[in-house]
Amino acid sequence: MKRSLNKETTKMQARLHCLCLLTLYLTTGYGQEGKFSGPLKPMTFSIFEGQELSQIVFQFKANPPAVTFKLTGETDGIFHIQPDGLLYYNGTLDRETRAVHKLEVSALDEHGATVEGPVTITIEVKDINDNRPMFLQSKYEGSVRQNSRPGKPFMYVNATDLDDPASPNSQLIYQIVIQLPKINDIMYFQINNKTGGISLTLEGSRELDPVKNPSYNLVVSVKDMGGQNENSFSDSASVDVMVKENIWKAPEAVEIVENSTDPHPIKITQVRWNEPDAQYSLVYKEMLPRFPFLIDQEGDIYVTQPLDREEKDSYVFYAIAKDENGKPLSYPLQINVKVKDINDNPPTCPSTVTVFEVQENEKIGSSIGTLVARDMDEENTINSVLGYRIVDQSPKSPREGLFLVELYTGMFQLAKQSLRKQDSPQYHLTVEVSDKDFKTLCHVQIHVIDINDQIPIFEKSDYGNLTLAEDTAVGSTILTIQATDADEPFTGSSKILYRITQGDSEGRLGIDTDPQTNAGYVKVKKPLDFETAAVHNIVFHAENLEPLVSGVEYNASSFAAFKLIVTDVNEVPQFSQQVFQAKVSEDVAIGTKVGNVTAKDPEGLGVRYSLRGDTRGWLKINPATGEIFSAAPLDRETESLYRVQVLATEVGGSSLSSTANFHLTLTDVNDNPPRLVKEYTGLFFCYPLKAPGSLIFEATDDDQKSFRGPQFTFSLGSKSLQSDWEVSKVNGSHARLSTKHTGFEEGVYNIPIHINDGGRPPLEGTVSLPVTFCTCMEGTCFRPAGHLAGIPTVGMAVGILVTTFLVLGIILAIVFIRMKNKGKDSVKSAQASEVKPLRN
Ligand SMILES: *[C@@H]1O[C@H](CO)[C@@H](O)[C@H](O)[C@H]1NC(C)=O
Ligand SMILES: *[C@@H]1O[C@H](CO)[C@@H](O)[C@H](O)[C@H]1NC(C)=O
Ligand SMILES: *[C@@H]1O[C@H](CO)[C@@H](O)[C@H](O)[C@H]1NC(C)=O
Ligand SMILES: *[C@@H]1O[C@H](CO)[C@@H](O)[C@H](O)[C@H]1NC(C)=O
Ligand SMILES: *[C@@H]1O[C@H](CO)[C@@H](O)[C@H](O)[C@H]1NC(C)=O
Ligand SMILES: *[C@@H]1O[C@H](CO)[C@@H](O)[C@H](O)[C@H]1NC(C)=O
Ligand SMILES: *[C@@H]1O[C@H](CO)[C@@H](O)[C@H](O)[C@H]1NC(C)=O
Ligand SMILES: *[C@@H]1O[C@H](CO)[C@@H](O)[C@H](O)[C@H]1NC(C)=O
Repeated sequence: MKRSLNKETTKMQARLHCLCLLTLYLTTGYGQEGKFSGPLKPMTFSIFEGQELSQIVFQFKANPPAVTFKLTGETDGIFHIQPDGLLYYNGTLDRETRAVHKLEVSALDEHGATVEGPVTITIEVKDINDNRPMFLQSKYEGSVRQNSRPGKPFMYVNATDLDDPASPNSQLIYQIVIQLPKINDIMYFQINNKTGGISLTLEGSRELDPVKNPSYNLVVSVKDMGGQNENSFSDSASVDVMVKENIWKAPEAVEIVENSTDPHPIKITQVRWNEPDAQYSLVYKEMLPRFPFLIDQEGDIYVTQPLDREEKDSYVFYAIAKDENGKPLSYPLQINVKVKDINDNPPTCPSTVTVFEVQENEKIGSSIGTLVARDMDEENTINSVLGYRIVDQSPKSPREGLFLVELYTGMFQLAKQSLRKQDSPQYHLTVEVSDKDFKTLCHVQIHVIDINDQIPIFEKSDYGNLTLAEDTAVGSTILTIQATDADEPFTGSSKILYRITQGDSEGRLGIDTDPQTNAGYVKVKKPLDFETAAVHNIVFHAENLEPLVSGVEYNASSFAAFKLIVTDVNEVPQFSQQVFQAKVSEDVAIGTKVGNVTAKDPEGLGVRYSLRGDTRGWLKINPATGEIFSAAPLDRETESLYRVQVLATEVGGSSLSSTANFHLTLTDVNDNPPRLVKEYTGLFFCYPLKAPGSLIFEATDDDQKSFRGPQFTFSLGSKSLQSDWEVSKVNGSHARLSTKHTGFEEGVYNIPIHINDGGRPPLEGTVSLPVTFCTCMEGTCFRPAGHLAGIPTVGMAVGILVTTFLVLGIILAIVFIRMKNKGKDSVKSAQASEVKPLRN
């Protein structure tokens, strides 16, 4: 309705000039009986503003005794009434001056006394777009911070339009017409077309830089009538925008000295949003046990408590500024805090007591060990550099100062002489470890240890004979041996390791040493075997873990002898493998060797072979050699993997036997002729044939298919049918049988088809494909009973053919006999007659 109003206005203005009554009809909103005339009563009229000639509004009818009318109220000298009741106006209505005129009309009698009314006549002045929008200022100035959030207005322009605010005439639309400068045609500024709010575009937010260009000039326009109408008015204004530096910048990294005793919180840095009244907060990404920082509403950042570099040496967190609605004003700023080390940690000892061992005969200057104390303060600074000093040695025998320590490395050395265990088996040293400010005492114990100058001595040199059955369980202990060592107990110098140096090259035996007693337990580690080693002449050797000191050697007392005799146990024959596999073509001749198996008896007895599970009777085995032969025709299509068991039995002895498996894989040969995939019974053409047609059929065979599927070729089984039928290949498995003409009889035709499987060697099959020509009803074969009885089948046709040939043969024979007397012409005519019956 609003949209059509403007159009209506124009039309009406035209008509008002000529036809006032019609105008009334169009402009009055409220129809009374008689649109343009009637009795006096309250009425409302709508009239468009604007400059018009005199216009009639309404003709009031006087009811006696009324004879004349009077008009009062807000006539503004424009509305008049004639004595006969004709209400009209003859001035310019202006909605912006008075939007509604309240008129009072009274009816008077001939004496001028009011007999009716006064009645209120309301005139609504309707707006026409007769006022231009106007910017409140012709020039605006504003400023924007670099990187301001896109879309957030930083200034407004504002225009007014005097037309009816409820009508589209004062619906204003703002636009940016020009942006200067404009690089690459990219707008940095945008205006909200309803509110006049000017903000940055995404590009503007990114690109504006006061260093590159500190000010921009925009021309903005405003249009009324929603900017949609060609009659809309417009105004424009100039806007100068200053670009100001963004002060929302990450501050420099902060260094805070750890363990500060100053009162907290301490201000460490600050951030500032470009305008006041931002809400600041801090966030951190790491999982922290505590977060000792805060920000106040000025943007000042504080550390709230002393930091400990040894706990955490740096912090990274972010400062965020939000507007009053909690919306981020810009990207977060990263705050980096580094915690500066002070020397607040004393050195610490690696353990309460550090133990070093020294051999009795160690030379002067030998390194004994290194004490590594730690300091938690920052590495590679003066705060963690440590110095070592021996402050006490106990006992002081045979003298003081037996040991030295290197000042900065903590390495201990023998200072004066070799140690002797008789003097003291151990020394206690107190070591002062110091950094810049702290001193710590650490304790070092030095053990003087015996040297390995005694060899292990066996209690006896021969452990005699032992007889064991070869099936003695693995893990059994068969003997205990014992040697002793005079060195200090429970040190590497006295611990004994037993080795077998002779008589067990296969490692069937092993020896475990009891750490308390040095007893050695000889155990079976692998099965004994009478057949490979019936007698083991074993030599044991007892050694120390530590090497002997120079000048001392193992002698015969560290060796002992032992004889192990293994007795035989009868064992089953052993096949060389558990599964024997062989592969032959399925068409091998009967009696062909297809595989062999071998088994040996550990006791060396002879072995006889036999088969088990030869359910198809396909195989035979030579009992003496284990060779296996085919005994019947093999067929892959029955069993592609033939599995039997072979049995090996000792000849003599206790006739023990064992079994193994023999798997025979049969490989395919092309031994199945191709055939039709099914019995085709329902192939038909509708009789009479209207156009040549075709049928598709499929062939298969039972041989192993190649990965490409079957590759059959198809042809007609009889050359004589070539004038009626055609066979064409569709693909490797399917072919098409087509008629070559339409002149077929009603009935069944059995078409012989040759199918060749293309194998090596190729196999061919001839199949018969029955095709019926029948009367069709609704596309299916409709066959009245008995109707086809007279049609010959292929068999019958062949029969007829054979009979014909027989007759012909007889005729020919007669002809040939006669030819001796007559010419060849009669023969030709006889041959010609064979053509006809071929068509079945
Ligand atoms: C309008 O009509 C009234 C009376 O009919 C007359 O007095 C007045 O002068 C007219 N005004 C104009 C502007 O024609
Ligand atoms: C625009 O000016 C009008 C009239 O002065 C005022 O009512 C309105 O609120 C102003 N709009 C804006 C967005 O300042
Ligand atoms: C005013 O702006 C809105 C969205 O900002 C847009 O959908 C609309 O088309 C604009 N109107 C005109 C007349 O450009
Ligand atoms: C602070 O230093 C004092 C000595 O200066 C030390 O005793 C204390 O353990 C230190 N605190 C931390 C947390 O390192
Ligand atoms: C051990 O057996 C050998 C023969 O193999 C025999 O000469 C020797 O006397 C036997 N020793 C003992 C202690 O039985
Ligand atoms: C082996 O050496 C030890 C001393 O180290 C000695 O007692 C023992 O008699 C020696 N044995 C032999 C067989 O020489
Ligand atoms: C079969 O016997 C032949 C010789 O007779 C031999 O080379 C081959 O390894 C035997 N095969 C099997 C599986 O024992
Ligand atoms: C051969 O052709 C027949 C009929 O068009 C189709 O159904 C079949 O999938 C085809 N076979 C192959 C292997 O393409």
